[in-house]
Amino acid sequence: MVYITRKEHFSSSHRLYNPAWSDERNWETYGKCNNPNGHGHNYDIEVTVAGDPPAETGMVMDLKKLSDLINMHIIDRVDHKHLNLDVDFLRGVIPTAENMAIAFWKILEKEIHGGKLYSIKLNESNNNFVEYRGE
Ligand code: NI
Repeated sequence: MVYITRKEHFSSSHRLYNPAWSDERNWETYGKCNNPNGHGHNYDIEVTVAGDPPAETGMVMDLKKLSDLINMHIIDRVDHKHLNLDVDFLRGVIPTAENMAIAFWKILEKEIHGGKLYSIKLNESNNNFVEYRGE
């Protein structure tokens, strides 16, 4: 089994906020990320696909094709957008990196053929990142 990874980048704004909670509880839970008018992040997404490269091509999957799929189905829908307001597939979802990785998985899983989607890593900053493997 070989694991191939494509990295892409996007910038978005969001607000971490649970509408079922009081302002105090939101502030205690999310701190500055609860800022009412939002704030931005420069995200990196790394999508890993697993498979055995067939003899004919020697490639698990064409990385250019993988890049195109990530851009078409994810980046074009979130880049320079407000994640709470502008993104249909995140409606009603608190846009933490965890929830975003899960939402991205649900979309990409259907689009990747040949290899199998293995993991999605989402880097929200140099120090904070999450990984989801569909489990
Ligand atoms: Ni944030």
